[in-house]
Amino acid sequence: MIFTMKYYPLVYGHRGFPLEAPENTIPSFLLAREAGAFGVEMDVHMTKDGELVVIHDDKLDRTTTGTGYVSQRTWAEVRQLDAGQKFSERWRGVKVPSLREVLTQVKGVNYYVEVKHGSRFYPGIEERLLEILEETGTKDLTQVISFDLESLSRLRQMDSSLTLGLLTCNDVKHALVLADEIGVNWIQAEFSLLDRELVDMAHGRGYRVATWTVNSEEEVMKAREIGVDSITTDNPRMAIRVLSS
Ligand code: G3P
Ligand code: CA
Repeated sequence: MIFTMKYYPLVYGHRGFPLEAPENTIPSFLLAREAGAFGVEMDVHMTKDGELVVIHDDKLDRTTTGTGYVSQRTWAEVRQLDAGQKFSERWRGVKVPSLREVLTQVKGVNYYVEVKHGSRFYPGIEERLLEILEETGTKDLTQVISFDLESLSRLRQMDSSLTLGLLTCNDVKHALVLADEIGVNWIQAEFSLLDRELVDMAHGRGYRVATWTVNSEEEVMKAREIGVDSITTDNPRMAIRVLSS
């Protein structure tokens, strides 16, 4: 982990800086870094030919000029698409990046890499992800996060030192039980689920606690008050300003 922050909790840009640039693209991640974010959060899917690509949805339709499932397109096909113009004309020409491109072109930050589906849907995705983290020398800067319990378990079995975070939109106490079973390091809970007692409980059981999506000044202050270790936000500049003042 790169420790350069002057504020706490740590601030991660959710899909980069999606208020200012198209989500999950290189410019969006670079803007989050420029704003001073400790890290960037990104979502990963796999193409038909096994490339890990950074995009949120299963399908290409919402954020790109393409259509259909990422899993049914080759990397060459995804590469042709424009991932900027639906956000605004200013970003026309921006591409869907591969995970390798993000990890090699966006340096000086830490990474939350969200595996949207594990190997039941994308056979071999965990192996491929570990290879990319090793090859790009970014394993120590990365926390792999997922709602997919099987995927997290596979990753833990393959690598005992990888930092893992279990995402939950449900009962945090139950997530702690699952976290014990899988052997993750962090609990990442949707913001409305958390309070001081649950954060203390997670800390007491040896977990660090992250939360998303923290988008207003009031929420940033509340996140700090209840003691979370990291927030993921669409507006890293605002969050850093609030936490630095
Ligand atoms: O950081 C976790 C969060 O990103 C999960 O929600 O839908 O934005 O990927 P989503
Ligand atoms: Ca995500």
